[in-house]
Amino acid sequence: MKTESDATAMEPPAPVGRDLLWNPDELRSAARELGELLAGYEADLASRSVFPDIDRAAIRGILEEPFPEDGRPMRELLDEFRSVVIPNSTQIAHPRFLAYVLPSPNGVSPFADALASVLNQNCNLWTLSPAANAIERKVVSWFLDLFAISEGGGIITSGGSMANLSALAVARDAHHPGDPRREGLQGVRSPLVLYASEEAHHSIDKAAALLGLGLNNLRHIGTDGGCRLRLDLLRDAVVQDRKDGKTPFCVVGSAGTVTTGAIDPLEELAEYCRREGLWLHVDGAYGAFAVLSERLRPQLLHAGRADSLTLDPHKLLFASLEAGCVLFRDQERWRRTFSFVPPYLGMNRDPDLLNFAEYGPQLSRSFKALKVWWAIRAYGRKAYVRVIESLLDLASYMGERIEREPALEIAAPVTLTAVCFRRGGLDDTGHEQVVRDLVAGGVAFLGPARVKGRSCIRACFTNLRTTRRDVDSILDEVLRLADRGR
Ligand SMILES: Cc1ncc(COP(=O)(O)O)c(C=O)c1O
Repeated sequence: MKTESDATAMEPPAPVGRDLLWNPDELRSAARELGELLAGYEADLASRSVFPDIDRAAIRGILEEPFPEDGRPMRELLDEFRSVVIPNSTQIAHPRFLAYVLPSPNGVSPFADALASVLNQNCNLWTLSPAANAIERKVVSWFLDLFAISEGGGIITSGGSMANLSALAVARDAHHPGDPRREGLQGVRSPLVLYASEEAHHSIDKAAALLGLGLNNLRHIGTDGGCRLRLDLLRDAVVQDRKDGKTPFCVVGSAGTVTTGAIDPLEELAEYCRREGLWLHVDGAYGAFAVLSERLRPQLLHAGRADSLTLDPHKLLFASLEAGCVLFRDQERWRRTFSFVPPYLGMNRDPDLLNFAEYGPQLSRSFKALKVWWAIRAYGRKAYVRVIESLLDLASYMGERIEREPALEIAAPVTLTAVCFRRGGLDDTGHEQVVRDLVAGGVAFLGPARVKGRSCIRACFTNLRTTRRDVDSILDEVLRLADRGR
């Protein structure tokens, strides 16, 4: 018969971190409660105010809590999430949240995020993430195929801004006259000049500043009536800069500008950049995945002719934040910008897998590829085509209703899913006020925007739950508020 001291002697020693770990029963129970919370959130979503009536006492409670000595059970944390965090959050997934380019996430994303945390793969070295590495490579290769890029590579980033920054770093190094890593831009006599349309996303400006190019060497090129970059003005600017002893090196085209969704003339840009020896980067963060739809494929396929291409799976693939991506045609140039191989990393090479640490600015990197891989595999191409086309239809529907409404006018052609419009006779301040009133009334979260120097109201359809009825009620409310403000 075993004595009590024998039994104690046979118990496995407790892990050092047992304070921070859960046993299988605790895990099961937390997962059940999480499932309940998700289902309840979905059921209540449409009845919530799109922008919260912020409970200042609750916010102060968060800000003023001292560092706790002791922990709390998960149930309490979830209750607090329900009663404090959700009601004080902007309901991005609410059917009438149509601001920025900020989609509601697909159903599989929360699960992918959770499971990526469980494995906690470090997607820097393949030895720390073999399956994740293959998954990221597969996702990238699907993206290359979407744009008919036969040879190239890419990496999942935190978003479009980091993708643009990475692309422009590689472009800068590729056009540096000496050794970019040793010399930086300090010794460059003829400044490198970058070109993008006046409608390009500000992450291009940010990248120009961060990369030492300087905003004085970023030319914002004028656009045509459709808010697309004008090639004639680009040509003139490049000629002038060369005359002035500068070195034009890169043009950024947009596959969906952030405000109006305009698609720059990508085919012409690709031809022009090839002839002139300029790097072409296409910022497709907003719109490039609309290549899945036959309707836009002919225009967007040309994005694949760029030297580098930004994509944002957390936009039109509806992965939860954060998941961006950048593709490069020339893998060796891409690697040269980012590869540092310190001995303490012990990097091994593998014929199938990549050390992503050599292809981007980060060392530790989370397993973001899982939610992108699952998004594509959980739903498949056909579902994405249906959703993207329904969103394009919704934008057209709003555009047509605006055209029919004598009091309203369209501010820019509807190309993707963004609709910019004005109330005739209302000034800039009046438009900004209408946007604020819509939000304050909890009716809808739309964006303010400026098109061709004038304020307007902007709805961007990247929300999975919006219906035509939402569009109608938003326009009715805009008309009511605008009349009140005149
Ligand atoms: C055209 C464009 N480029 C870049 C970005 C920045 O992307 P992110 O917010 O993922 O950094 C956006 C965001 O809306 C965008 O619309």
